[in-house]
Formats: sequence, structure tokens, C-alpha cells
Amino acid sequence: MSMNPFRYGSVVEGENFCPRPALETQIRQYAESGQNLVVQGARRMGKTSLLKHAVGGIRGMRLVYVDLYFIKTPSDFCARVMKGVSAASADLPFLSRALQLAFRLRPTLSVSPADGTPTISVDARAAADPDSVGATMEALSKIAEGGRTCIVFDEFQDILHLNGSDRILAEMRGTIQFQGTVPYFFTGSSRNAMMDIFDGMDSPFYKSALPLEVGEIDPPSFTRFLIARFRKGDRRISAETVAKILEFADSVPGDAQELCEALWSTTAPGAQITEADFPAALGLVFSREIRGYEAVLEKLTPAQSTVLRSLAANGRERLASADFAARTGLAASSAKRAVGRLLADRIVFSRAGECRFSNPFFREWLLRNA
Ligand SMILES: Nc1ncnc2c1ncn2[C@@H]1O[C@H](COP(=O)(O)OP(=O)(O)OP(=O)(O)O)[C@@H](O)[C@H]1O
Ligand SMILES: [Mg+2]
Repeated sequence: MSMNPFRYGSVVEGENFCPRPALETQIRQYAESGQNLVVQGARRMGKTSLLKHAVGGIRGMRLVYVDLYFIKTPSDFCARVMKGVSAASADLPFLSRALQLAFRLRPTLSVSPADGTPTISVDARAAADPDSVGATMEALSKIAEGGRTCIVFDEFQDILHLNGSDRILAEMRGTIQFQGTVPYFFTGSSRNAMMDIFDGMDSPFYKSALPLEVGEIDPPSFTRFLIARFRKGDRRISAETVAKILEFADSVPGDAQELCEALWSTTAPGAQITEADFPAALGLVFSREIRGYEAVLEKLTPAQSTVLRSLAANGRERLASADFAARTGLAASSAKRAVGRLLADRIVFSRAGECRFSNPFFREWLLRNA
């Protein structure tokens, strides 16, 4: 029996990572030259995997990867940064130097008895101090100076969830701008929030980092990659059928891999996969996700529900178009308000003025169950 050759939902590496040589080269050059970057891209486009792969592949470069997903308090911030530092290297001199430099947070080092991984934790009282973010940034910058280091702040927009985020951003910026040689990469999947931070003229980060866009994976390479993964899982598939998968997924790699996994799971070893296999695969995905869909629908007002179904039926809707509201039968103002809510809840997102579903499977399910 072969193992499922597809991975979706979390960071991919090794044989599960489809090379993206052009972006990898660019990112490595920026890391080497100390250029700060703001890495933009829609959800599940592969930003985190790409950054980890590209920076992790530079010889002699340390990667401090800090995930700010859903941080709520400044002490979460300190803890996440220190977690990133401890994961950057198992090298003892590096870790003990980091401990010294972070002294204001009264850190302690523990080593997991199970696998020997070191973790630096910070004292809860010290981390709750109003100045702890400043102290953390200062420590981080000094730690980074001790050798070639690249710092990645992932889901950076979640900084905005912190009380006093304006002041915190200003403090971070204050530290970062004096570190010409250390590359800081910021990434996040919420385009609007990232834009507020990096393009808002009154933001301390205004124009402080070069934008880099992570779009779809070059279709010929991704097609070859997926065909090879199917072969590894003892299935055959043509390039034409893979094109249908990419079309369904709107070329988002995470969604494409999810559909591939379901196609693999619902077909027999040795099978030649065609479009005729799509309904069973979609059925499998729906059965896994239906409770989530229903939970979303339950929270919608009638107007939001009408707008969502209209968006599902019409695909990439131009929201500015005059007949959009007309088609929903709603007043223009209430259609607009409903769209605003759907965008805020990230059920849909807009790309180049068009409205798309964040989850293409949800859209398909709505179409079949309208
Ligand atoms: N280079 C790649 N090769 C193959 N699959 C990929 C690649 N990059 C991303 N994927 C697919 O997309 C999924 C999400 O990847 P990743 O978490 O890196 O994206 P992301 O843009 O950081 O997403 P999010 O917006 O949720 O943080 C992976 O689990 C995998 O299925
Ligand atoms: Mg990510």
C-alpha cells in the first residue's frame, strides 16, 4: 500500500515542496544583502513554505522564524520571538548568548527530555511589563548581529490585535531601521491589514520594506510535480486533467493539493484519474468540511446569504459592476454592506477587483446545495 503523496494545510518541505526557482533565488539574494521584504500573497499560496525553504537553504544562514498567528498580548509576542530564537539553532554557544542578551526578560532554557529540543521561555512577569516588546526587539536585534541571521515575522498583521499596536509598531520599526545588514521579512495572508501597515502613510513601516508577491506556482512545473506525486501514489493522470484541478483551485497550491489528496483517496491503485472522478473526490471533501460550511451559513443574515449564493453562481464577480446588486434583488447599499461583511469574515476576498471564495470547495458545495 502506498502512502498518500499529497500534503495540504501546513508547511511543505522536502519532496512535498515543488521548487519555485525564480522566487527562491530572489529571496536568497535579498536575505544575503540584508534587504527587508514584505511578502504578499493570498492564503494557501505557499508563502510560509517558500520562505522557510529558500532561507533555510542558504548555507551558514540562521533563520529565526516567528509566527505571530493570533497573538493576543505583548507577552505572547515575547514568547513567540523566543520560540523562534530557540528553534533557529541547537548550537549551545548561540543559545547561551541569546539567553544573556535577553536578560531583561529573565529567560530560562529548558531541554525536552524526549527529543533534546531546547526552548527558551521568558518570565511571565517580565513579559507582562509594558516595555517587554521593546526589550524583546532589542534582544532579537543583538542576537541577529552575532552571525548571518534572517528574521521572518509570519502573520505579521496580527500585531494589529495587540493593545497599543501603534506604539508597538513604532518601537519595532525603531529597532529594525538601525539594522542595515540583518534581513527582516514580513509576511501575512490578510492583504488589507498588511497594506495598512506597510502602505499607510501614517504607519511607521511606511515604505520600509520591498514588496515581493507570491503568486501561483509556474503551471508547467506544478503540473509536472502533481503528476509525479500521483505516480508515486500509484495513480495516473494526464496534464489536461491536472489543468482542470488547477482551474478548480484557481491555481492556489494548497487547494489544488487538497483536491488531489481527495482524488487519490477515492480511486484505486493503478487507476487513470479523469474528470469523471471529481464528484466522488468533492463528496469526500464536503463530508469533511460540511460542518464548517453550515456554521458559516448559520451566522449570515438573509442579505449576506443572498449575496453569497449570487457570488457562488457567478464566479469571479466584479463587485463594482452595476448589475451585481440588481441580480441579487437587493438595494445597492445593502448588497454593498453584505459584501463588506463577507470580506471582513474572510469568507470571500477580492483580488484585482474581483470577488472570489476563500474556499473553492465551499463555493462548489453552495452551488450544489442552493
Ligand atoms: N512549493 C509548494 N509545493 C507544493 N505545494 C505547496 C507549495 N507551497 C504551498 N503548497 C501547498 O499549499 C499549502 C499551504 O502552504 P503554506 O502554508 O506555505 O501557504 P501560506 O501562503 O503560508 O498559507 P497561509 O496563508 O494559510 O499562511 C501546503 O500545505 C501545500 O499543500
Ligand atoms: Mg503561512
